[in-house]
Amino acid sequence: MYVKMISMETKTDALSEKMMKSLLRTERIGSRLFCLSQVDSTNEELKRRFITDEDLPEGTVAITSDQVAGKGRRGRGWVTPPGVNIAMSIFLRPKIDPSAASMLTIVAALAVCRTCMDMTGLSCRIKWPNDVVVEGKKVCGILTEMSVKTLNSTIEYVIVGIGVNVNTLSFPPELSDKATSLKIACGHGFDLNEPAVGILTHFEKLYDEFLKCEDLGFMTEEYNTLLVSREKAVRVLDPKGEYEGVSLGINDKGELLVRTGDGSIRNVYAGEVSVRGIYGYV
Ligand code: BTN
Repeated sequence: MYVKMISMETKTDALSEKMMKSLLRTERIGSRLFCLSQVDSTNEELKRRFITDEDLPEGTVAITSDQVAGKGRRGRGWVTPPGVNIAMSIFLRPKIDPSAASMLTIVAALAVCRTCMDMTGLSCRIKWPNDVVVEGKKVCGILTEMSVKTLNSTIEYVIVGIGVNVNTLSFPPELSDKATSLKIACGHGFDLNEPAVGILTHFEKLYDEFLKCEDLGFMTEEYNTLLVSREKAVRVLDPKGEYEGVSLGINDKGELLVRTGDGSIRNVYAGEVSVRGIYGYV
């Protein structure tokens, strides 16, 4: 009994509100923190919190390592097996035009990529617009959702939802060639508080810069250095017609510039369009 109590008390790798608060040095991102033992979706949790409290402060975070109905992009799901990964959402009230909100996803991707590199020492990469990739496989997905006031078409809130595969060791067969975790890539596991605090810290710095200029000019160079497809052949899955070209990097608005066979440059907008390497996922 004594041994069991000690081992439980000294367990440090689980998500803990107390631990996160003791490590966080941010000003407002994470200043209000809901660390949940289980939740359907952290994005949905923040939406519910907003409904009950319209003054929900900017920077409020909901986080769990047991998300049972996680939402992915394009109506897909996002699986967070209990206790091994993090699912986290950040509540924002940016005073920007709604058309600029999708850039926040790109800001978040850079924050996650920086954090994964800090933690692992590996050369992590970004698959445009917002997947973070290690050794050619995805470790993080981001889903950004926005509510716009009908009265004046201004942003009511933006929720940036981030899922990171931290300590998962296996994936369902349909994902195993596309997904990985930090533990698989490094050969050892991580304290779940570490990526959470790292991401919030990097995100706050980048978000503050973004708010000053409302474009991504301040980070395009770093992002493009990390872009997995840079100067590589890609296939653009545009519903209006697929095409191939060479990925050149993003511009200040986060659009991917692709040089096509005739030498012209096409701007690819995130949303309906996805971009694949011509030989596989990246
Ligand atoms: C993707 O399809 O790549 C995006 C996945 C986004 C998953 C995260 S986990 C935290 C937040 N809550 C959700 O329900 N989804 C996002």
